[in-house]
Amino acid sequence: MKTAMDGPADTRIMGIVHWALRRDLTRAREALTTIPYPDGARRAALAAHIDWMVEFLHRHHAGEDDGLYPLVRAAVDPDDVPLIDAMGADHEAIHPAMEACADAAPRWSRARGAEEVEITRLGLVAALDGLVTVLFPHLDREESGAMPLVAATLTHRQWRDWDQRYNIRTKSLPQLAEEGNWLLDGIDEAGRDVVLHQVPLIPRLIVLYGFGPRYRRHAAARWGAVSRLDAGANGDAGAEGSTAAGQTVEAGQTVEAGQTVEAGQTVEAGQTLEAGQTLEAGQTLEDRGEAAGAVR
Ligand SMILES: [Fe+2]
Repeated sequence: MKTAMDGPADTRIMGIVHWALRRDLTRAREALTTIPYPDGARRAALAAHIDWMVEFLHRHHAGEDDGLYPLVRAAVDPDDVPLIDAMGADHEAIHPAMEACADAAPRWSRARGAEEVEITRLGLVAALDGLVTVLFPHLDREESGAMPLVAATLTHRQWRDWDQRYNIRTKSLPQLAEEGNWLLDGIDEAGRDVVLHQVPLIPRLIVLYGFGPRYRRHAAARWGAVSRLDAGANGDAGAEGSTAAGQTVEAGQTVEAGQTVEAGQTVEAGQTLEAGQTLEAGQTLEDRGEAAGAVR
């Protein structure tokens, strides 16, 4: 009996991974060019996150170059081989820009004194611009050109086996959980469903509830004490406020898609509220009088 595993590869997770990269590279540039510029622990956390994204991208490319594209190349029509080969060529062309970011981020993190901090900040902005210039068009090409070929040539079982071998089994549970929560950050409901169904129920619960708070602490540390609904979230916290007296949302909080804050609940620093959330009457965002307006 044929199952969905024998059907075409479902490559939607690739688009979600790309979306998360676009989201945080864009966010990082915004943070680096918005006064007050990140400093102290936030500077270190943002630099570390940029470094983490570059490392993630190295592994992402390696999994495609070593596992996915050789498999697809062997199965596609000869006319489509150049398109597959172009993906590997893109990866090679992107690597110098990745290395520039991996070099610039720790320089900025370690910089001491106003002048060095400013020079290294501008160096990192330039490195990010260089990366975005070559990476984003590649991600578009991969989604519009290569993924349809993958779906036309590989079964979902082959895709799943590749994903398990190159993207899952090579990482520890804490690494996978951090990645999973990173993918979910600000995602819409359809995307959330795709991400959560990559893993069985029990690890899914561990990712969400065991490691979610750690991810949110890390996110708050790099993005700062800003409450926001990210693109794709459908809440309008400022406009729909209606609750619970006594509720306090603390500094450092971020607001995510889907969560409802109940009357009387206290939301702690670094916690993330989700899309669809309403911020209720009596609620305060400490240290940020403008925070309700920053939720978007
Ligand atoms: Fe790629």
